[in-house]
Formats: sequence, structure tokens, C-alpha cells
Amino acid sequence: MNQAEEFVVPDITVRKNAGLSHDTDYTMPQPLDRYTAADHATWATLYARQVALLPGRACDEYLDGIAALEVSPQRIPDFAELNRHLMAATGWQLVAVPGLIPGDVFFEHLAHRRFPVTWWIREPDSLDYLPEPDIFHDLFGHVPLLMNPVFADYVQAYGKGGVKADSLGGLDMLARLYWFTVEFGLINTPKGLRIYGAGILSSSSESHYSLESDSPNRLGFDLMRIMKTRYRYDSFQKTYFVIDSFEQLFKATEPDFAPLYAAIADRPDIPAGDILPGDKVLHQGTQEGWPDTEDA
Ligand code: PHE
Ligand code: FE
Repeated sequence: MNQAEEFVVPDITVRKNAGLSHDTDYTMPQPLDRYTAADHATWATLYARQVALLPGRACDEYLDGIAALEVSPQRIPDFAELNRHLMAATGWQLVAVPGLIPGDVFFEHLAHRRFPVTWWIREPDSLDYLPEPDIFHDLFGHVPLLMNPVFADYVQAYGKGGVKADSLGGLDMLARLYWFTVEFGLINTPKGLRIYGAGILSSSSESHYSLESDSPNRLGFDLMRIMKTRYRYDSFQKTYFVIDSFEQLFKATEPDFAPLYAAIADRPDIPAGDILPGDKVLHQGTQEGWPDTEDA
């Protein structure tokens, strides 16, 4: 989710949280007694479907993480149990939140190695797509990679970068970096192209599409390029960016972004599906099925 966008609380978040309250930092106790049998069944359905897709598609770091976390296939996990594994592996903690939270609050949590996880799960009539993150996206998609030390450090550094970007006019550019890495990133491995982005890993159709479809572009990671690239939040991505390793991602984003924001602020935005002369093109998309509506 683009944390730089204006913060509005979606209806489903309001309904799910009726009668519950959260702290000033938007955290709340995970309301375990609110989960119904139907909610656990939704988790089990989504989990079974995604786990079957992961071999040969998700990167090894993700697969190692989800195994070590001992995420339950049958029931919505209790955060306290996952936190024992996470704390031991990388010092991260999950915190329950009502849903999407304001960008500045989100950055503060990440900067302190706390990952905000929406506590509720989607309704059975919208198993495949929902516009705002639920527990399946937040937990199944994001949390396994937080077991990896390099990725764990990257997400914390991102959070600190977000706190800083606020005063530098860099929030939109930084949000795109999150989008094209943490949410929709692909990684090149000796075994082939693999997924690490949570937006893909929590979506069965995009798990296929991102790797197997000829329609989208697949371009080599390029920090400044990404910061100027528009994206889709209502359809599959037109362009995926591919890293070679998490170390590459960490190193490329380690320098101070202040001069970078200033240098590229006035450059024009790049439409989501464009390919530019300097791009490292791994696959040029056929553009089949691309929406013709405006990019975000
Ligand atoms: N290095 C960035 C800065 O100085 C912070 C950052 C790190 C941003 C990692 C994103 C990812 O602002
Ligand atoms: Fe997400």
C-alpha cells in the first residue's frame, strides 16, 4: 500500500473493528476471540492455495522463513507464537493494528523493527482480491522474509528512511521503492526468477502472472528509475523490477537519499509500462491485457 497517499479508513476496517479500540500508535491486542470458524476456514483455504504455488516460484529466503515460523495452515496464527520465532531470528515483532495506518506511524514501527499486521481476514466473497491489506496479505505475504537478516535490516532502514523523507519531499519516491521491492519485487537466482514481493506472494493469480506471463516488462533493479516510475494498484503490474540479491538491494539503498531526492525531484514521472533507453530489459512485455486507465 502506498503509505504516502492520504489516509482514509476503508469501510471494512470500520466494520471489523466495531467495539474495539487501538492505542495512539495504532497497536491493539490481537482480538483472538473475534475470529470465527469461517475466518479460520478462509485462512486455511488461502494458505493451502498459496503454499501449493510456492515451490519453484517463491525465493528460498521466503520458503526458509515460512518453514521456520511454523505458520499454521489451519488457523489464523496467534502473533505471540510467531513473535517468539521472529524475535529469536532477527529481533522483529508483529504488532496487531486495525487496518491501514497513517504513513508516519507505519514508518515509526518499521524503524523500531515492529511490523504492523492487520488483525482481521477478508470475507469469503472476496477471496481473490481486496483493495486494502488484511491478515493474509500482511502476515503470509510479508512476515516470512522478516526472518531473513538482510531483508529484516532493509525493512528497518526503509522505516528510518520514511521518517526522514517526510521533511525532504521524498515520500512519493520512497513509496514507489516500497511498491516495486517489498510489495512486487522479483529476484534472479541460480535456479531462475523467483518472487519476493508480498503483494505477489499473497495473490494466486499474480504469482502466476508475474513469473509466467509474457505481458509485463521485467527490468533490472534501478533505484532512481524506480523512484520515478508510476504503478498500478488496481491490476497486475505492467512492470516488475528484478534484483540479483537482497545484499544488492540493501547496498543500493544504504546511501543518504537527501541529495538523490533533490536531484531527481524535477524529472518527469515514467508511465508504468514504459521502457527507457537505459533500462536493463530482462523481458519486454507484450502489453496484452494491459488496462488503458491512468497509472497511479
Ligand atoms: N538510505 C535512505 C535514506 O538515507 C533510507 C532508506 C534505506 C530508504 C533503505 C529505503 C530503503 O533516506
Ligand atoms: Fe503489503
